Amino acid sequence: MKILELFSGYGTASFALKQLGIPYELVGYSDIDKYANECFRNNHCPVDMDRKLGDVRKIDPSNLDDFDLLTGGFPCQSFSNAGKGLGELDARGTLFNDIIRIAEVKKPRYMLLENVRGLVSKKHIGTFNKIMAELKRIGYYVDWKILNTKDYGIPHNRERVFFACFRNATDYSKFHINGGFPEKEELKLFLKDIIDSGEVDRDTSYCIDANYFKGTSLKGYLEKCRRQIVFEEGLCVPNATVKGYDFGRPGDGVNLDFPTSKTRRGRITKKVSGALQCNGGRGVILDDYKIRKLTPTECFRLQGFLNDEVILDGISNSQQYKLAGNGQSVNVVKKIFEKMFNCSPNLKNGCGKFLTGESHHIGETYCDGNPFLCEECRNTTSFLNKTPKGELQTQNSGSEHGLGQNKESKDGI
Ligand SMILES: C[S@@+](CC[C@H](N)C(=O)[O-])C[C@H]1O[C@@H](n2cnc3c(N)ncnc32)[C@H](O)[C@@H]1O
Repeated sequence: MKILELFSGYGTASFALKQLGIPYELVGYSDIDKYANECFRNNHCPVDMDRKLGDVRKIDPSNLDDFDLLTGGFPCQSFSNAGKGLGELDARGTLFNDIIRIAEVKKPRYMLLENVRGLVSKKHIGTFNKIMAELKRIGYYVDWKILNTKDYGIPHNRERVFFACFRNATDYSKFHINGGFPEKEELKLFLKDIIDSGEVDRDTSYCIDANYFKGTSLKGYLEKCRRQIVFEEGLCVPNATVKGYDFGRPGDGVNLDFPTSKTRRGRITKKVSGALQCNGGRGVILDDYKIRKLTPTECFRLQGFLNDEVILDGISNSQQYKLAGNGQSVNVVKKIFEKMFNCSPNLKNGCGKFLTGESHHIGETYCDGNPFLCEECRNTTSFLNKTPKGELQTQNSGSEHGLGQNKESKDGI
């Protein structure tokens, strides 16, 4: 399969395809960040085969080879509560148009697009509707949903809206027959399980001394916005709730940004980390009630790289925090790909020959029309006669899209 990664960062799509065992060929990748490009090249490009395209606005689609899959987590600061929320007024909010410009010419069979949850908030719903209308105008069947990384095995409260786009009606129908976006899973791995134990390098992480509170009454602590006070119930952290504070226990995540703010909520995230941002401002409460900042390696684990497999040579800690904070969660993207491409583990046990041309037997349910399989599998008669629900994207209820399942919190955006 041939792919084009736009706004490529560390290359989540390439990592996901590799982890799924789907052979792919990179037609190109586009990012303007020097360190993102370095990281992408080191991880996904053979020496002397760099497919860097640079600024998406300068890509001429007629110069590109054809590809089957386009991916893009288009810049989100303009829709995020963490940014100023200027939406389309911010130049970064209009880069979506370049996805449309390229897809209209190249017509890839699949696209997977991603953005912050804020894009479907009341404030930006006009932009969201335009995005859906544009995708439809250029010939795509689209389904969208808000997915949270912590619902797919990784202790990271990160909500993102995903757009699964299909050029072909049969692919779209099959996605639905297969249940659409992946089902949530019970979380079995927690923040305490993925952090390094013992002393961590002081250059990458620091402790905020839990004795800081000494001699401070709760009233004084809250009024002076001191960071820490430990009670029987746990570590007391200022929080914009009625009582003015929240308790954290060892293993909970802490938002270290704006420690004196009285308007922030959700500073403590129980047993998971809050959504990573580019500045690395996320911490964890240790067994001795000290708070430690997460290391860059731990941040990448929170994006699903549990084997520390991302090559980060030569990239400073602050740039690593930025890459991890900007990136997509590979565990989530992988699960979506499985559903979009019908390549469940069952498939691999059946045909699973992936364009090798070797003899195979056909697991009809899974092989039909799948572009990554040999010709014979691909041409198997369709078991589907259904037409897609063309208007699904505008008619679906909020809960089908993950709306209303979690209260919108600043931390999750
Ligand atoms: C939200 S991040 C997406 C990261 C990526 N999806 C990943 O998983 O690592 C947006 C990316 O778009 C890049 N970007 C911003 N403006 C761009 C442009 N004009 N052309 C190409 N990339 C751009 C940023 O440098 C950033 O890496």
